[in-house]
Amino acid sequence: MKHLVGLGMALRTSRSLLTRGLVRACYSTSASLPEMPPCDFKPTEYKGLPFKKAMNIRKDNLTPALVTYYKNPVMIQQGHMQWLWDCDGKRYLDLFGGIVTVSVGHCHPKVTKALEEQSKLLWHTTCIYLQPKIHEYAEKLVATLPGNLKVAYLVNSGSEANDLAMLMARLYTGNFELTSLRNAYHGASTSLMGLTAHGPWLYNSPTGFGIHNVVNPDVYRGPWGGAQCRDSPVQTTRQCSCPPDHCEACDHYIEQLEDTLRHSCPKGKVAGFFAEAIQGVGGAVQFPKGYLKRAFDIVREHGGLCISDEVQTGFGRTGDHFWGFESHGVMPDIVTMAKGIGNGFPLAAVVTTPEIAQTLATALHFNTYGGNPLSCAVGSAVLDVIEEEKTQENSKVLGTYLLTELAKLRDEFDVVGDVRGKGLMIGLELVSDKEKRTPLPAEDVRIIWEGMKDMGVLIGKGGLYGSVLRIKPPMCITKADADFSIAVMRKALLNHKNGTH
Ligand SMILES: Cc1ncc(COP(=O)(O)O)c(C=O)c1O
Repeated sequence: MKHLVGLGMALRTSRSLLTRGLVRACYSTSASLPEMPPCDFKPTEYKGLPFKKAMNIRKDNLTPALVTYYKNPVMIQQGHMQWLWDCDGKRYLDLFGGIVTVSVGHCHPKVTKALEEQSKLLWHTTCIYLQPKIHEYAEKLVATLPGNLKVAYLVNSGSEANDLAMLMARLYTGNFELTSLRNAYHGASTSLMGLTAHGPWLYNSPTGFGIHNVVNPDVYRGPWGGAQCRDSPVQTTRQCSCPPDHCEACDHYIEQLEDTLRHSCPKGKVAGFFAEAIQGVGGAVQFPKGYLKRAFDIVREHGGLCISDEVQTGFGRTGDHFWGFESHGVMPDIVTMAKGIGNGFPLAAVVTTPEIAQTLATALHFNTYGGNPLSCAVGSAVLDVIEEEKTQENSKVLGTYLLTELAKLRDEFDVVGDVRGKGLMIGLELVSDKEKRTPLPAEDVRIIWEGMKDMGVLIGKGGLYGSVLRIKPPMCITKADADFSIAVMRKALLNHKNGTH
């Protein structure tokens, strides 16, 4: 046993020596790969907690519910913009942004400066005193939203935001039933588990009273869908006989929503309908064009509010618009946001109309950390960077480029069943049978995904079967990064195909 530990340490040390500062070394077996794009930033040498010790602490002292990615987990010690470094000094291109959260870049200098400056002035007061930052930020944040969405409630996580939205919808409408789409992820609090209609994320415990999950309008995997349904540069390979201005798949999915409301809600009355503009955890699933508009109309006819969960799709990620719902031509009653809002700092918000916001004033309601000066300083700097560095435009241009290039991989490789998304919110679904859309077994997915990691590119995974590769990078990536990523993905797919991983 001692020998094995010693060998492990020796291997780790030699890996450290090999990789520190010598990023190219890891491509020695892959002559066809281009070099990783250069990066001027020099990370500090890591002298902290040894990897093995961290693994032991994780095993003994942290909840076993904390999942680590990869067979050999990566211990990240530093980040700069789209780059991450592990504790051995190996550099990675981060195409997942800490699960779609690092919006403008790891440790973005302007955001870091705002946090540093605020940290010397004031950390915390709660709402019982006035402090300038929450007011400055609230005004700036609501200015990004259309119509009468003018009142913000600041919280710390997406789950808190959606919990509040549930409460507000019930209080405002006087109805109890709520609806969400199957395959949605809206958070992990016990009440939200009902809205999160995603088996792998659910416990065998009572949850979600009065919540009904509607058939997901998934035009790739669902019962209906064709070659013109999506608002994306890339369509499914399914056939379609609809005229250009009418989507029959959309008709069918809308019928399913109406059917759920008729069958499951008392006198058809509903408090609200939650939807992501593009499903995130569910694997970048897009709905047929026009679906959300028709769904919102129907929900309102049944007395409900429409809640857009922009936790992943907000802040310009989808490219064409600042908010994902804008691409669907809808006006929500409540918008929830988190993740990219704080570039990794705990900050989230619910934004709604003054009338709906009034519902929370009927009792005392309090959140200790919500809207604290530090998070508001960060949120404000993030909004400035999005504007100054035109990250929304970058998402559109590079997202479209990536999607178009990934579509070529779909045509080249049997295991790539679908490529979809908009802006830098991209999914690539892996299958073992293209015709039947059979999900690729987990071990094969792992080979491709982990192969990319070994070549220096970190991406996410998602979908009901864990077979969707998710690309949702910080919005500061460049064309060179996109080209490198495509080359790495192609190589990983090729290695899987040839069994040379
Ligand atoms: C769309 C969406 N809504 C809500 C949440 C919950 O956010 P949090 O993990 O900050 O509670 C997530 C988290 O992944 C999400 O993707």
